Amino acid sequence: MQVRVLEMSILLLLVFFPLFSVGHRLVGCEDSWCKSDGPVVHFPFRLSHQPKHCGYDPGFELHCNNKKDIILELPPSVHLVVEKIDYLSQKIHLYDPDQCITAKLPKLNLSQSNFKNKYYPTVLFNCSAPLAANRDYELVPCPGSSGYKVYAFPTDHFLNYYFSGPCTKIHQYPYAWYTFRKNKLQLNWSIPLCRKCEFKGMDCGFKDGIKLLETHCFNRTKKLLNQKGTIYIS
Ligand SMILES: *[C@@H]1O[C@H](CO)[C@@H](O)[C@H](O)[C@H]1NC(C)=O
Ligand SMILES: *[C@@H]1O[C@H](CO)[C@@H](O)[C@H](O)[C@H]1NC(C)=O
Ligand SMILES: *[C@@H]1O[C@H](CO)[C@@H](O)[C@H](O)[C@H]1NC(C)=O
Ligand SMILES: *[C@@H]1O[C@H](CO)[C@@H](O)[C@H](O)[C@H]1NC(C)=O
Repeated sequence: MQVRVLEMSILLLLVFFPLFSVGHRLVGCEDSWCKSDGPVVHFPFRLSHQPKHCGYDPGFELHCNNKKDIILELPPSVHLVVEKIDYLSQKIHLYDPDQCITAKLPKLNLSQSNFKNKYYPTVLFNCSAPLAANRDYELVPCPGSSGYKVYAFPTDHFLNYYFSGPCTKIHQYPYAWYTFRKNKLQLNWSIPLCRKCEFKGMDCGFKDGIKLLETHCFNRTKKLLNQKGTIYIS
């Protein structure tokens, strides 16, 4: 009789266990970091070692590199470091660890990605002699050499003038001109829309490990530390 009761309670526990996670984040989906002073990773992002249901797929999987930077891979295999994730405004701030984002952007294709950039046309020019400092354009630190300099123009208003100089057009890109000068790229995402949870100070995530499309708001998990490690209560 005693054994049966035990069996029954284990069965009940297994059957109802998924319900226990309704009030808070799914197990294994706690806040994560690559380094303690780095950006906090949580839904819709997850670190690669966390269960799949902790993040939104595709595209929101992050990994730590050997310098403990967080790396986001954008299609097709453009690896950028995550400087900051703004969960409330749904923006991610990225930079190129090789300090030459201008060399990587021509490859980037966000047409199938959940990450989008604000469209600001920027034209890059390759000039065989340095141009005088001017507010109309900016020197792009990379690529470039003693033989040539690359400049970013935010509009094509002044292009005819500089075209006649020692410059040839490289390409027009849809990224803001500070992207090239500062080696920084800012993207946003609209799916999944978690800002309403974040705004209420709640967690966003999947209700269970099965329906991996519908997101819900949850009471934020409170974190308590004891000698044995971390205990989470909701
Ligand atoms: C979330 O927190 C609120 C206020 O503390 C409480 O009323 C509510 O029952 C909680 N919801 C869940 C699902 O735990
Ligand atoms: C971007 O990718 C889409 C589909 O993956 C493709 O159709 C499109 O041609 C690509 N654009 C460029 C500029 O390569
Ligand atoms: C993300 O940026 C795009 C393009 O600028 C914009 O249409 C969209 O509303 C933005 N989404 C969010 C959630 O801010
Ligand atoms: C700029 O022009 C120089 C000389 O023609 C060339 O060697 C270099 O590869 C060009 N750089 C870019 C980024 O187009």
